[in-house]
Amino acid sequence: MTHAERFTQLAERLAEWQPLWRCLPFHHPVVPWAESHPELHATLLALDEAERARLHDDPFTASPLAPWLPVAELAELVALPSLAPAPAALPEAWSQHVSGRKWQQIEAFLPRVLPGPGQSLVEWCAGKGHLARALSRRHASEVTALEWQPALCAQGQALAERQGARVRLVPADVMSDDAAGWLSPHTQVAALHACGDLHVRLLRLAAAAGSAVTLAPCCYQRTAEAHYRPLSRRGAELAQRHGLSLSRDDLSLAVQETVTAPRHVQRSRERAAAWRLGFDRLQRRVRRVDAYLPVPSLAYGRMPATFEGFCRWAAAQKGIVLPEGVDWAGLEAAGRRRQAEVARLELVRHLFRRPLEIWLALDRLVFLEEAGFAVELGTFCARELTPRNLLLRATPDPG
Ligand SMILES: C[S@@+](CC[C@H](N)C(=O)[O-])C[C@H]1O[C@@H](n2cnc3c(N)ncnc32)[C@H](O)[C@@H]1O
Repeated sequence: MTHAERFTQLAERLAEWQPLWRCLPFHHPVVPWAESHPELHATLLALDEAERARLHDDPFTASPLAPWLPVAELAELVALPSLAPAPAALPEAWSQHVSGRKWQQIEAFLPRVLPGPGQSLVEWCAGKGHLARALSRRHASEVTALEWQPALCAQGQALAERQGARVRLVPADVMSDDAAGWLSPHTQVAALHACGDLHVRLLRLAAAAGSAVTLAPCCYQRTAEAHYRPLSRRGAELAQRHGLSLSRDDLSLAVQETVTAPRHVQRSRERAAAWRLGFDRLQRRVRRVDAYLPVPSLAYGRMPATFEGFCRWAAAQKGIVLPEGVDWAGLEAAGRRRQAEVARLELVRHLFRRPLEIWLALDRLVFLEEAGFAVELGTFCARELTPRNLLLRATPDPG
């Protein structure tokens, strides 16, 4: 399948199914599509916990939802190759001061950065420049690492000097006008997990300057625009033709898959969701308004010890006066039941998560192709290491 075919077919499927995947089951005691898709709805609610968890981890294999949703087609559309070359272990000493998971990501990303002869290396939004240090050692060349936070630059510079890596950490705002000055036709830019507008900025500047880019995009929803405007002309045309319109919230679906949390963390997340849903039922009754009311999130460890305590906190946040004689136990149990339902109904959104992420990555790819680049898209590591495992590698066409 060509990139163009994949891009078109994904736009069609995403647009066609938007009423289902866009709907947040958390906000609806009964999802609006239950009436139009009664069998799908009933099948989801009847899933046992083991099957729910399996489909959550792997929505495309042996899915009981296949009679109603385009599972096989989506599975084919999200199947991307692993980009060559395969990683080889880097010297252990290079990993000093880098957390285990981040280092494994760098080990997987680094061999895919292929600087051409005479190209200078730039790392985009570098943090402490961990990738830049490894790149510099691997290619025995200087790397310029651009990072906005001066404190990270100072720490990164100290690390580079201690390890004898030829890295120059530059405090720079990549959104500023002078950021263009870092790119030229002789630059290869590497960006590992650069967020929304930050990587879009890179692509626009690279397209203008003719710089090669190796990018693992991340956090598409971190953008100043409330509504997504496709980068590519073809993407804008497809979105318009099929009525695919993506809000910032929709974009966050693309990054919702996270590395599987330990069991105790999953349990406390489930309890928090159940309590919020129990409170949702209560607030609808008390306010006599049948509508979802967002309640602020709580920092880790700040969750009140009991359901009643949580409801009293949430009510205070929203200026709601709670009545006497609330059946706390009954309400908590209702919240638990709804949490179990929501987790099952969410599987619909889950099926469209990777297709959306890949469509957004393809929009970036097509944008660069339209600017005359040769571009590859694939994965650079297993999703267990990071679900943000897509990699775009773009080289300006010498012609
Ligand atoms: C998600 S982190 C990625 C860091 C690193 N590439 C990694 O994989 O660990 C994004 C980095 O971008 C930096 N950043 C945010 N806005 C920026 C800007 N306008 N200009 C340059 N860097 C920026 C942040 O300070 C942060 O260090």
